[in-house]
Amino acid sequence: MLTREQALEAVASVTAPYSADTVSVRDVVVKDRQVSMTVLTASEDIRPSLESALREALARAGAETVHCRFRALDGGAGAAAAPQGQAGGKAQPAAANGPVQGHAAGLDSPLLAPGSGTQFIAVASGKGGVGKSTVTVNLAVALARKGKRVGIIDADIYGFSVPDMMGIETRPEIVNERVVPIERFGVKVISMGFFVEDNSPIVWRGPMLGKMLRNFFAEIEWGELDYLLLDLPPGTGDVALDVHQIIPQSKEIIVTTPHATAAFVAARAGAMAIKTKHEIIGVVENMSYYKCSKCGEPEYIFGRGGGARLAENLHSELMAQIPLGQPDNHISEPDFSPSVYKAESETGAIYLDIAEQVIQKCGR
Ligand SMILES: Nc1ncnc2c1ncn2[C@@H]1O[C@H](COP(=O)(O)OP(=O)(O)OP(=O)(O)O)[C@@H](O)[C@H]1O
Ligand SMILES: [Mg+2]
Repeated sequence: MLTREQALEAVASVTAPYSADTVSVRDVVVKDRQVSMTVLTASEDIRPSLESALREALARAGAETVHCRFRALDGGAGAAAAPQGQAGGKAQPAAANGPVQGHAAGLDSPLLAPGSGTQFIAVASGKGGVGKSTVTVNLAVALARKGKRVGIIDADIYGFSVPDMMGIETRPEIVNERVVPIERFGVKVISMGFFVEDNSPIVWRGPMLGKMLRNFFAEIEWGELDYLLLDLPPGTGDVALDVHQIIPQSKEIIVTTPHATAAFVAARAGAMAIKTKHEIIGVVENMSYYKCSKCGEPEYIFGRGGGARLAENLHSELMAQIPLGQPDNHISEPDFSPSVYKAESETGAIYLDIAEQVIQKCGR
């Protein structure tokens, strides 16, 4: 098996003699021993020798096919269409073998282009296990049920869970050198889980995580989307920061449980959103109560009020309180998924209501 780390090492062995303003490689994608990348060069003359050196090095590392897209290093198509990052400076392509050159590194995804009709929504919380992924998946499905074109980026690169939650068992195909997201319940999904063999652990340094996220834009055939939801890992770490910087136009939904500690920790994620000028659409309180199956009365197992207090602190609003309870799905159903609530269920209806609020607030 050829890992992306190994491919990057092979690329680095070829590009090391060149300065960053002569040759830069980015968007390296490895799938089933097929490698593709974008190679930016200052001069066209060096391309043939560079391409054969890259092919040789990658073949030695175990690649079966290598595809290089060449672009001009200064003002090439990729750099021109790249978004302006927070720093407001000219976007520079990221070198694949060195540290990321600033967070506004070049991206040529039409989704990120100015005037793109896609609304990004990052689902965040300071704390783990409060239901970010569950909320992301169900909100995405609810938006799709309302006729919207929706995608999910499972940006929890170490702790990806979206494919399992949605019952996805297939892997994406590559068509015309681009990865086609898996569509499930009308939602297009990309996750690191698709590119990892046998649930093996991923050990990457921070900058690699940012590059993966960039690849999720640059290398994926998303088509046109109304909404692209990002399921963030817990906390306010590297990935959350990358999302803030790669997609300055993203809005956020903060998830918490009613417990005071969860709300307190979630407030940090909210504070980060405010600091980076991401608009907070609202707060979703998950696992709010358990509805007694006998008397129908709610029992507030994890306490009360965390979501409302958090919304107040963030000058936002509490969009919903979602009860405890797994979806009533059975493995024998043809479109079984462990975590997607049926539209007609009580919780499914709550998610449809959140989707309606999102549509109202985002106006698309
Ligand atoms: N309302 C709910 N009722 C019952 N179980 C729930 C509810 N919401 C989420 N869960 C369960 O709680 C667990 C954690 O949820 P989830 O994975 O969505 O949280 P997370 O915030 O994404 O976690 P992580 O921080 O690990 O990414 C899962 O097993 C999920 O099925
Ligand atoms: Mg999660």
